[in-house]
Amino acid sequence: MIFKKIAVVGTGYVGLVTGVALSEIGHSVTCVDIDEQKVASMREGISPIYEPGLSDLMKKNYEAGRLSFTTSHELAFSDADAIYIAVGTPQKEDGTADLRFIESVARNIAEHLTSYAVIVTKSTVPVGTNDYIKQYIEKHTDVSFDVVSNPEFLREGSAVHDTFNGDRIVIGSDSPFAGQVIEDINAPFGIPVFKTDIRSAEMIKYASNAFLATKISFVNEIATLCEKLGANVEDVAKGMGQDKRIGEKFLNAGIGYGGSCFPKDTSALVQIAGNVEHEFTLLKAVIEVNYKQQRLLLDKAKEHFGSLRGKTIAMLGTAFKPNTDDMREAASTILARELVLAGAHVVAYDPIAMDAAKKLFPEAVDFAENVKSALKGADAAFLVTEWDDFKELRPEQYASLLKEPVLFDGRNCYDLEGMKGAGMDYYSIGRPV
Ligand code: UGA
Repeated sequence: MIFKKIAVVGTGYVGLVTGVALSEIGHSVTCVDIDEQKVASMREGISPIYEPGLSDLMKKNYEAGRLSFTTSHELAFSDADAIYIAVGTPQKEDGTADLRFIESVARNIAEHLTSYAVIVTKSTVPVGTNDYIKQYIEKHTDVSFDVVSNPEFLREGSAVHDTFNGDRIVIGSDSPFAGQVIEDINAPFGIPVFKTDIRSAEMIKYASNAFLATKISFVNEIATLCEKLGANVEDVAKGMGQDKRIGEKFLNAGIGYGGSCFPKDTSALVQIAGNVEHEFTLLKAVIEVNYKQQRLLLDKAKEHFGSLRGKTIAMLGTAFKPNTDDMREAASTILARELVLAGAHVVAYDPIAMDAAKKLFPEAVDFAENVKSALKGADAAFLVTEWDDFKELRPEQYASLLKEPVLFDGRNCYDLEGMKGAGMDYYSIGRPV
């Protein structure tokens, strides 16, 4: 194995995890970011993001001299065999992907490229963007290079694990040489490689996220029907999932999907379709179902109490899912805002996302130091994020801490019988009350 010199631009979730993992398998990696403070703290071994296992691997490879951090593109790109683009593509107001950061990296590459390199796009970009990057760089440099689309499929909270245990590595390229360079770089991961053209690789990423989002909205619609018809969505999903063509994963009913990827990528794909005069009816419905789902606990609480004015609601969990401090597109933000608007007093608790929540929630929301003090004396609880800490709570604890024994569980964390036995009014998603 010949180890390569690699530059990774952007040290967010995708960039940092990619850089650290590539150094762990032996490559010499320089991560470049324009944020000086971030670079300084990474040099001190502090990871700018919370991601299980990342800090330790980062420190290990930094100390071994295989991983370095810089703000200088010039330094990072000199003699690099491959340059990975891993900057953000946030959502613009109209739902399209904002490519400002991608364009700025392309400008930097054109300016500082000194010898042949493979330019690898990890960021999720609309179909055709890699062609655009290629044309842009070609126009501004005489140095030869190739472009490869190599989308990531990492989940936040298990990104390190996923990098070493992924289902496939997709390599989209119109240069067999460049495709081979990227395949060689990834060889030590031992993950199956799927090679295709650039546009298909770009589409695989959007199609995969849109399909997973569809699975979630589909099971959530089934959950609504189960509630009305007296069936149990957990058993329905299990029974469906045993059919290998359907698969049991991503069939957990709940209060919808959040995070930085599914909401952004589904909207972007609807826009991409619109640009070529195709109405993506199915995906539009998936998004609409999710909108409804994220507000479901509020509807249930209003139905139970009539009015929420003056009620204290304990909100358990604010992150968009467990094992992350990420609050992007989290249902909790919508629920906090709507509860406050409805005149309720919200006391929120999250094991690690509370600092982020404080910045996003209305000022009227209070934050508790632990889950028990959030529950103590509240009129009802909303379980929003299925942290293990919450799953360990016993029905009797809810019943004794809450003023009224009412729990709206957005993630189906508890056994129905146990809750009933403790005298709780227990509302979950798609299961009998
Ligand atoms: C998602 C994909 O799973 C990754 O493959 C992809 O690389 C990533 O987006 C991305 O595009 O970067 P992530 O957003 O980190 O990863 O989180 P997931 O674990 O997929 O969960 C997304 C949301 O779906 C969460 O809000 C979760 O609560 C919800 N979900 C998931 C359900 O409501 N039900 C399920 O059965 C599964």
